[in-house]
Amino acid sequence: MDERARLDGAAEASCGLAQGGGQGEKAASAAGEPAGTKRPCVLVGVTGCIAAYKACEVVRGLQKAGVRAKVVMTEHATEFVRPTTFRALTHEPVAVGLFDEPGDPIHHVSLAQECDAFVIAPCTANVVAKLACGLADDLLTTTALATTAPLVVAPAMNVHMHENAATQENLRVLAARGVTLVEVEEGYLACGDVGKGRLADVDAIVAAALRAAGVRRDLEGRHVLVTAGPTEEPLDPVRCLTNRSSGKTGYAIARAAVRRGARATLVSGPVALEAPEGVQVVRVRTACDMLAAAEEAFPQADIAVFCAAVADMRPERVAPRKLKKGRDDDALASVRLVPNPDVLATCAARKRSGQVVVGFAAETDDVVESARAKLASKHADLVVANDVSDGRAFGSDDNEVWFVTADDVRAVPRLSKDRLADEVLDAALKARG
Ligand code: C5P
Repeated sequence: MDERARLDGAAEASCGLAQGGGQGEKAASAAGEPAGTKRPCVLVGVTGCIAAYKACEVVRGLQKAGVRAKVVMTEHATEFVRPTTFRALTHEPVAVGLFDEPGDPIHHVSLAQECDAFVIAPCTANVVAKLACGLADDLLTTTALATTAPLVVAPAMNVHMHENAATQENLRVLAARGVTLVEVEEGYLACGDVGKGRLADVDAIVAAALRAAGVRRDLEGRHVLVTAGPTEEPLDPVRCLTNRSSGKTGYAIARAAVRRGARATLVSGPVALEAPEGVQVVRVRTACDMLAAAEEAFPQADIAVFCAAVADMRPERVAPRKLKKGRDDDALASVRLVPNPDVLATCAARKRSGQVVVGFAAETDDVVESARAKLASKHADLVVANDVSDGRAFGSDDNEVWFVTADDVRAVPRLSKDRLADEVLDAALKARG
């Protein structure tokens, strides 16, 4: 089977998924994400020049920011980078020809409607000219004409092509129409010339695309520390004392922090979750290990969210070998427990000005009152309280909570843990003042 035929097959297979539901839900379901997650979608247009390989980095940059990236290429671009590369990076079909998509005769309209921004990087002088004229003679340019999403263009070309009055005029036309231009850079060009024409820095292109897609980057330059999951306190080499916790909320908060531009450190107890993209994960087992890792990261953190369900106590002695019925009955009958350090309270006691500390409280009764008491006793700025009396919060994909601060109590309706993560970060920013 040739490359195009395989791509068609993949495109067709995904087509059904891309058809029902609203725009954001379509994106979420196609990517196999939990319902309620609305990942923004950026369409990356790749045109035929030597800088086409840098579009791979643009795709990765968008993905690191939590964005769903799809790729459309011109025929000439496929001479530089194979569609397979982008398909492997995006896990999405990669479109090239206007009529490649047997299941979707108006593919350009589906692509155009699906995206929250269309970034063409690199954009050749030819495609700049076509965009300026409103030409639509292939899938990429037809999609550009059909979309109402913001258009971002990052040109790349030979210095003389860039200087040419026609190109300069075309770029002015695009800018006047509200297209975001990510200016070429000066330097050594692949053709051997030196001058203006190099594709802009990938980070600048990604930042422009994220802005155009309305992705929030309000945590840029901030460091967010999150503790998540349970801890395990060993009794012997095979048994342990632990808490029920899936870690989903903490992982969602770390993911949201990175999506919004922060650097995130996630100190995680044992959970069955994948490390989120772009997050520094420190895996720990016991409360004492968690405290050590959190204490190391805490001084650099602007926002510290203590989400972990830390075991409040641990067996005083860890048996060196598996305790056995019969042989070790005395030891089993007298397992002594000793208190564990409080990770949140220990870190918060050293809080510096400007740092925000967020705690969680899982309660079965007097939820808000208990949260208020915890706020004071642990020196937290915000406590996210939830009612676990019916066991519903554990492992589920949504939750219903209260935000408790020194002067406010706010009930937050049931939300997916991903949306709750953004709410927690918003509330933390607000608590910081
Ligand atoms: O006291 P309680 O366990 O209910 O407090 C819950 C809050 O304190 C959560 O934010 C949890 O992550 C944190 N905590 C902690 N270390 C402990 C116990 C709780 O960081 N040993």
